[in-house]
Amino acid sequence: MTLTNGYEQSDREEKLNILNLPSLEGEAKKIIPTGGFGYIFGGAEDEWTLKENTQAFNHAQIVPRALSNIDHPDLSTDVFGLHLKTPVMMAPTAAQGLAHAKGETDTAKGVAAVGGLMAQSTYSSTSIADTAAAGNGAPQFFQLYMSKDWTFNESLLDEAKKAGVKAIILTVDATVDGYREEDIINNFQFPIPMANLEKFASGDGKGQGIGEIYAAAAQKIGPDDVRRIAEYTDLPVIVKGIQSPEDALRAIGAGAAGIYVSNHGGRQLNGGPASFDVLADIAKAVNHQVPIIFDSGVRRGSTCSRRWHQALTW
Ligand code: LAC
Repeated sequence: MTLTNGYEQSDREEKLNILNLPSLEGEAKKIIPTGGFGYIFGGAEDEWTLKENTQAFNHAQIVPRALSNIDHPDLSTDVFGLHLKTPVMMAPTAAQGLAHAKGETDTAKGVAAVGGLMAQSTYSSTSIADTAAAGNGAPQFFQLYMSKDWTFNESLLDEAKKAGVKAIILTVDATVDGYREEDIINNFQFPIPMANLEKFASGDGKGQGIGEIYAAAAQKIGPDDVRRIAEYTDLPVIVKGIQSPEDALRAIGAGAAGIYVSNHGGRQLNGGPASFDVLADIAKAVNHQVPIIFDSGVRRGSTCSRRWHQALTW
């Protein structure tokens, strides 16, 4: 354990036996200090949308097809010019140093080892270059929290390009913070600096709550911003946080090369629909014009089992 600004950051290294994601959450709770765990695990308000995200998978069932004459199903996929062994991507996830001293760099190694795709967050504990290097050539995307300060935006886009990332994910659903009660209860402020913010005047995140960090980002994002970012970088720009067919089409009209359907894991706006429940209508409207990425509520490759619901502490 390393004591970083009073935060007991784990640096333990041992093999984990992971049965399923809920069991991993239980193990994480034993290691990650309360404030960090609450920030990672919690959602907005009474977490109705967060819970609905996982339950939505039960609204649709999987009809098994037999007699398919396949012995080794091929899960590989091609997207944005990349060939991936698995269609599962590591969603951009902030401040991984809260969970472990090696933060995003070890996540990048793990994702590379399974042939997946890693997305780095603007609010990472480690720098774009360090996380990219840890991936050792495996594909990565960079997620941008757009700032009011275009010097900041352009500097991060340049760094991402230099580090060899393959696409930019522009998050558009976090112009203000969700009302996250766990963070209020724990009076949570980030104890560990965010490497990509270090050279900018608004602070590196250390000693700030998520509300203060978002306040330094842009409160107003529209199609012109998507266009400006797409024009600035020659990387594909994927717009993340889309929940309606109308917004998907506006993003594509502004130059988005991909649509990322997400409600931020229910961490932003409570009371909105489950992300899975809006996916079909968005896919219909997008009609294969660009690829669609999806997150929020995914806990298994199949669906939420009864056993999984029992395992939850909710
Ligand atoms: C969050 C942001 C930083 O959900 O993605 O906390």
